[in-house]
Amino acid sequence: MERLTSPARLMIVSDLDHTMVDHHDPENLSLLRFNSLWEHAYRHDSLLVFSTGRSPSLYKELRKEKPLLTPDVTIMSVGTEITYGNSMVPDHGWVDALNHKWDLGVVKEETGKFSELTLQEETEQRPHKVSFYVDKSKAEEVAKELSQRLEKRGLDVKIIYSGGMDLDILPQGAGKGQALAYLLKKLKSEGKLPVNTLACGDSGNDAELFSIPDVYGVMVSNAQEELLKWHAENAKDNPKVIHAKERCAGGILQAIGEFKLGPNLSPRDVSDFLECKVENVNPGHEVVKFFLFYERWRRGEVENSEAYAASLKASCQPGGVFVHPSGAEKSLVDTIDELRKHHGDKQGKKFRVWVDQVLATETAPGTWMVKLDKWEQSGDERIGCTTTVKFTAKEGEGLVWEHVEQTWSEESKLKDDSSWII
Ligand code: GLC
Ligand code: MG
Repeated sequence: MERLTSPARLMIVSDLDHTMVDHHDPENLSLLRFNSLWEHAYRHDSLLVFSTGRSPSLYKELRKEKPLLTPDVTIMSVGTEITYGNSMVPDHGWVDALNHKWDLGVVKEETGKFSELTLQEETEQRPHKVSFYVDKSKAEEVAKELSQRLEKRGLDVKIIYSGGMDLDILPQGAGKGQALAYLLKKLKSEGKLPVNTLACGDSGNDAELFSIPDVYGVMVSNAQEELLKWHAENAKDNPKVIHAKERCAGGILQAIGEFKLGPNLSPRDVSDFLECKVENVNPGHEVVKFFLFYERWRRGEVENSEAYAASLKASCQPGGVFVHPSGAEKSLVDTIDELRKHHGDKQGKKFRVWVDQVLATETAPGTWMVKLDKWEQSGDERIGCTTTVKFTAKEGEGLVWEHVEQTWSEESKLKDDSSWII
């Protein structure tokens, strides 16, 4: 969060399963649309927060399976664990607050008496979260009885039912809503309360997110029955919460537009962005668009025309160099010629490219360094590299690519793929 020196323009706090991630879309299209919008228009001055029911280990699995961006803050295990930044530094202050009227041993003892409850996987049992599966028809009754028994034993807990199957028991002070309130308070104390906050969710454990004051909310179109029921009973008249028409990340884009929180046209929804070149003086935009173009080029979705190659070459410094992640060097112009040979080579195949953590710094007047992680998914293989691009602004020509350098990401080092183009 230290990355930003002033209040975030927008803070998005989103659930993952069935909200940011559409498990019914193997192409991950709405997620990829969200990703390009975020990197294009928000990354530099906004905050991305993921708030999931998953434990750290299941969260990391999801990151391997799906093209998720790197969030600034990760709230896991239904608001019982908060971490910051890429290295996921835990917030110990938050954990301390959760010990109030909480005793894991007592929760396990009392829940053990209910035959309707089936314990979830070991990874999902956390210091401040005990989770079960329970049949829809039994959920309400079990929750009521359990909460009375735990109260008698001196505990103050919260029982949440999600997705028509999961039952979580947490300390009363925990939960996604409380974790968000804590985060907002922390940001406020640093003088960095976001200008706008948008909470996004689909199921029971997200309900609390929609009751935090001054926060916009979107329940995606595919929201679960238990969330819609909660909304009808508790938040029907709140104009700041909408039930989107679009599924998952598409619903988030819709809400950004409806609440007028900023641009909501994803670069993925723009068919020909090479046209709007000269007015574009934002080096971050340049990179997002280039890699999108690169994906379309290899998928054969843009025409193999001279005009494209010429336009790309015109935006490169004639002596500019590209350092391949293997260490090999080539001129930028030769790299474009190389790219030309690969037009349509991924046609009809599973091939996607996305960029993460695009950050531009003006190192001298008219000179920018852009750093980003670039990912390429080809079939079931995923490879990533850290990319730095040096740009200079040239009179009448817009931004010129001067130097591109890539190094394999930690997990891609072993693969050292020689077929990698750029
Ligand atoms: C995630 C967690 C699970 C929890 C559910 C609902 O699926 O893995 O433990 O019960 O979210 O919060
Ligand atoms: Mg969900």
